[in-house]
Amino acid sequence: GIIQLVVRPENNNYEKASDLKSEYVIRAFGKIVKRESVNKNISTGEIEVEVDELEVLNTSREIPFELKDDTTAIEDTRLKYRYLDLRRNPIKDRIITRSNIMYYVREFLHDEEFIEVETPILCKSTPEGARDYLVPSRVNPGKFYALPQSPQIFKQLLMVGGMEKYFQIAKCFRDEDLRADRQPEFTQIDLEMSFVEEEDVMDVTERLVAYVFKKIKNIDIKLPLMKMKYDDAIDKYGSDKPDLRFDMKINDITDVFRNTDITMFKDAEMINCLVINNNIDYFSRKNIDKLTDFVKKYRAKGLAFLKFGSELTGSIAKIISDKELNMLKENLSINDNDVVLIVADKKSVVKQSLGALRCHLGRELNLIDKDNYKLLWVVDFPAFEWSEEENRFMATHHPFTAPKDSDVDKLISDKANCYSKAYDIVINGYEAGGGSIRIHNQDIQEKMFEALDLTKEQVEEKFGFFVEALKYGTPPHGGLAIGLDRLTMLLTGTDNIRDVIAFPKTASASCLMSECPNDVDKEQLRELKIKCE
Ligand code: AMO
Repeated sequence: GIIQLVVRPENNNYEKASDLKSEYVIRAFGKIVKRESVNKNISTGEIEVEVDELEVLNTSREIPFELKDDTTAIEDTRLKYRYLDLRRNPIKDRIITRSNIMYYVREFLHDEEFIEVETPILCKSTPEGARDYLVPSRVNPGKFYALPQSPQIFKQLLMVGGMEKYFQIAKCFRDEDLRADRQPEFTQIDLEMSFVEEEDVMDVTERLVAYVFKKIKNIDIKLPLMKMKYDDAIDKYGSDKPDLRFDMKINDITDVFRNTDITMFKDAEMINCLVINNNIDYFSRKNIDKLTDFVKKYRAKGLAFLKFGSELTGSIAKIISDKELNMLKENLSINDNDVVLIVADKKSVVKQSLGALRCHLGRELNLIDKDNYKLLWVVDFPAFEWSEEENRFMATHHPFTAPKDSDVDKLISDKANCYSKAYDIVINGYEAGGGSIRIHNQDIQEKMFEALDLTKEQVEEKFGFFVEALKYGTPPHGGLAIGLDRLTMLLTGTDNIRDVIAFPKTASASCLMSECPNDVDKEQLRELKIKCE
């Protein structure tokens, strides 16, 4: 911490003290005395040191930005001089909290008899579905390692190896588009267990998370956490990571407009809306235009609206029939001063755009209690996702995720209705962690590969050694990974992932401090037999 030093003009060290500048490193000896003017804002505010001896251990160049808690320096400058930024309390405190979280995670999992095992960083491509970071092999010219997107294959192999309860605080690497809660290099609290079902993994995980919340924030999380089916989450919140700190669910009003004359609703697959209570003044023409632009980013064609003020206004006020209006009022229990925002489109667009709009309005209208934490499990994920790009079904998680027992027969015949034993833990609208029960039965694994249109050759090439391993008496097993960075963000109240990583990368995956990635020596490339265009 900090303490005030006093060097009065009559003190021998006065001249030396007068020359001290910001960020100099000094050593001082003296007597601790009661301070004349007490500073109640700091823990050492009642005392100070009357300096007898003063030594300058090191000077400092003029610092490029002021190291205040509420600095106005732009983030790029702070990242370039990250070692200085780390001296600021908001960053330092978060890094300390991160360390404490890791400590408590280890404490809890050791007590639960988990074994911490490290797995390789130089390895073969893993099945998480992002792009790999590749590392060339000098001794095997033309061949590459992939950095792990997660320890997925290894943790399953540890179960084959009889480890029963494994955990690791693991570095993962994914070359994907970065967002405020995504880094190319991030850390997972990774765990895997043998002879378990979904409930067992969820139980140990929620107890772990509750333990960390108690230790770090002294908050009691009520267990067991609520569970929401994936389909319900999409239906009511337009997201598989619903933020339950505020209500405002999505309402399906397709039936109200079954035989409508409103052109934009006529051919829509689905019509849904949000009802906003008691904030009618916010919905000016200008703000409605902004919200319309907002939903268009999610491919919605437009945003229809109704304002139930002293008179009914809004884009469809003059064209909605009396019957439709009455049904709408009744179905949605509309009160005076409510606003209804409507999107009509295909289901995926309707849900996604209104889900995003819901969160946007939650923030804009201050509906979110920032000190509140809402945790839940999202369960029963579809096993497959339709890829518009590839025009086929892909695994929602990875090809080793077990389907629900009742859906095994649908793997080939009815992929759209096949659900899996996967679960995500969601905190305040963030996917804090996710995992699944894995397939341990070879017949089902083969069916899964077939469902994903993977040929025998492709399976052999991608996961040959792994599929081979699963044939040697693999126990039933499952696990999960919590994003340590995201958990730390949630526990330290920031929505910027860079605030919780000592040396983070920018949105373009570079480090402004060390200037990496960078060019390398021609000689190094020659050794690796790599030519750059
Ligand atoms: P998944 O891909 O869901 O699962 O990742 C687990 C958790 O890791 C965090 N996370 C990230 N955090 C920061 N930056 C990223 N780029 C990033 N990507 C993911 C999220 C996420 O919930 N092998 C499986 C786990 C399992 O099945 O056991 C896996 O990696 O918080």
